[in-house]
Parts: sequence; C-alpha cells; structure tokens
Amino acid sequence: MVDGKRTLLIVGGGIAAFKSLDLVRRLRERGATVRGVLTAGGAQFVTPLSLSALTEDKVYQDLFSLTDEAEMGHIELSRSADLIVVAPATADLMAKMATGSASDLASTLLLATDTDVLIAPAMNVRMWEHPATVANLATLRARGVAVVGPNEGPMACGEFGFGRMAEPLEIVAAIEGYFGAADGPLKGRRALVTSGPTHEPIDPVRYIANRSSGKQGHAIAAALAGLGAETTLVTGPTHEPNPAGVRVIRIETARQMLAACLAGLPTDVAICAAAVADWRVASAAEQKLKKDGGALPALTLTENPDILATLAGRENDRPALVIGFAAETENVVEHAAAKRARKGCDWIVANDVSPDTGTFGGDGNTVHLVTAEQVEDWPPLSKVEVGQRLARRIADHFAA
Ligand code: CTP
Repeated sequence: MVDGKRTLLIVGGGIAAFKSLDLVRRLRERGATVRGVLTAGGAQFVTPLSLSALTEDKVYQDLFSLTDEAEMGHIELSRSADLIVVAPATADLMAKMATGSASDLASTLLLATDTDVLIAPAMNVRMWEHPATVANLATLRARGVAVVGPNEGPMACGEFGFGRMAEPLEIVAAIEGYFGAADGPLKGRRALVTSGPTHEPIDPVRYIANRSSGKQGHAIAAALAGLGAETTLVTGPTHEPNPAGVRVIRIETARQMLAACLAGLPTDVAICAAAVADWRVASAAEQKLKKDGGALPALTLTENPDILATLAGRENDRPALVIGFAAETENVVEHAAAKRARKGCDWIVANDVSPDTGTFGGDGNTVHLVTAEQVEDWPPLSKVEVGQRLARRIADHFAA
C-alpha cells in the first residue's frame, strides 16, 4: 500500500521521538521513502545522524540553511512528498499548525504545503486535555488533517492518561489507510465492524458493562480501511481514538448496535468483534433507583439480540463474508467451532480471554482462525497485527 510512496516525516520534540525511528524502519520495510525533518526539540531526543541513517537521506533542520536552499528550497521540500507525517506532533507543533505560525522549518513546511498531513499527537495528558489543545485539534481536523492516536497509558512523566503517541504500527496502518483508500485490494468493498462493550442501563445513572477495550475491533477497522475498504465501525463506549479513514458510529446498548449495523447494510464483509452484553435489564428504571431502606432491588434480565447471528441469518442482504469472534476461557477451538455453526457465520476468530492471558484490555492477542474447512493457529501478535493479518486474509478471500 505504501510501496513507492514518498513520505516527509517531521519529528517533533517529545520523548516519543524515539518511536519515530522505528516508524521509519517500518515504512521503509514496506517500500516507502522517508525524508526526515527534525525540529530543534526533536533533536533533543533523537540525533540527526540516527534519523539520517534510517532514512538513508539527508535530514532537514534549518529554515535558513543556505546549502539546503541551494539543494532544495523549503517550499519544494514541503511539496515533494505524497503525505506529510508529524510524529510526534507536540502541543507546540499542533498550536503552530492551527495558528499558521511559520517560525521554524517544520511549521513553515506545514504552512507552505498543499500535501495532506497526518499527525500522531504525543504530550502530557494535561496538555492534551487543555482547552487550547482541544480547540487546536478541532481546528486541524476541520481543515482535513488526519489524526492517529494518542493512546491511553502510563506516561514518561509518571502520569497516566491520554497522550502516548500511537505505536509505530498503528501509524503505519493510518498511513496505509490514507493511501489504501486510493488503491488497496479492498477498494470498492464495503466493510462493517463492531467493537467495544455495550452498556445496558439499569437506571439513568447505572449500567451493566464488561471489560472490552475495543482495541481489537478498532484495529480491524483501521486495517480494512488501510486496504481500501469503505469501512463503518459501530462501537460501544471505548477510550480508543477513531481510526483514520473510518466512518465511526457510537452507540451504547446492544439494541442500538444492532440498529446501526442493520442501517449499515448492504456490506461485503461484517466482522463482529464487539463484546455485546448478552443480557439487559428487562425494564430499566426511568428514575434513579433509591436505597430507601427497603428491599433490595431485583434486576430481572432479558436476552439481547445476537447481532452476529442476525447478520449471518439475513435473507436478502446477508454480507458475503460474516466473521465472528469467540471469547473463550477453556477448550477454545472446540467451543469456537461450535459457535461458528450455531451463529451461522463463515469464520470465527477464537481467542482465549482467561484473566492470565491479559487479552481483555491488553495489546496482544493469540488467536485461531476457524473456518468451515480448517483451523489456523496464528502466533502471538499485537492486536494491530491481528487486525492487519485478518484484513489481508479477507482481501485474499475476495480475490480468490
Ligand atoms: N455477539 C453478538 N451479539 C450478541 C452476543 C455476541 O454479535 N448479543 C457476537 C460477538 O461480537 C462475537 C460472537 O458473537 O463475535 C461471540 O461472542 P461470545 O461472547 O464469545 O459468545 P456468546 O454469544 O456470548 O456465547 P457464550 O455465552 O456461549 O460464550
């Protein structure tokens, strides 16, 4: 997808800059060329030499460099790429972009360019949540700047929250998404993905939920878009950022998820990765339940619709390929094979979600792909890699 594409990578000044070196490696492995621009802050974290060695090119740092201008003027530099990637995009770089400041080489390039821009923000959580950054982000998005991440997690400064730069492979997926939309193997195909948990109300303030993070479903949607599919993601409440190039529909309950999925038909492929609550409270209270010192409230549960089985059982508009997940804690493959037959889907991605595997909420996943003909045991992978491998497998299926 990125083979032969020219990227201009602007490395801002943040601790995440070291991950940008890995990003260069990943992009070059895939056949892209990368030209590096290092801000003064970026040069505090990675050296021009390491960036130059990995890009196998000169690294640009100065706005007023006579030799650089003689070789390639900064206006030309800003337009010599198919995509500009800013990673890490610091709060300062985002502010400069939003206000049109041109005070150094990076900001000048970003102002002078007519090339599309993808940013991977990285900063302290308070800086990320500050109204100034929130407003800058909204401005950039409105101007068509694509955004990947940031992720939630522990930060170099010791705090916890949003602000960790997206992982190199997630940024690669976003870049592939950008280019893939133009010419990927799933171009012209439609994909529908469910992700995350559902929240089933007990009363206006309480709900039943589960520990699903949405990481796997979001990664699948990102990967499908990366291969060019017109992708709709129907997601329950998660902290995952919207994947680049994906239409995202946010819902809360299983019934809302079903309605959104049915509205998303027809589609070529449907992948149900959501951890849909099996039950909801039969009649959620309209007012907050009070303790009142009386009897404990009895919650009567009723079954939620099965979205996967519903999609697989559609008569006229059944997706050509329906894929479910099987979250199991024992006899993983056998239970998954039975689930595939019971739900009427074509493939099941079976994963072990026993607490000691760390699958729920974690970044890794070890899965088995169960089809009518065979069982494929995949090696331990990150959820991003599982998404990419599954998307590739779907593309091969449609190509065959
Ligand atoms: N699923 C769904 N709608 C539901 C329940 C599950 O679409 N109401 C989908 C999930 O997205 C997943 C698959 O069904 O793709 C299997 O989910 P899982 O939780 O493993 O299975 P259950 O249906 O809950 O079956 P069991 O309780 O027997 O494990």
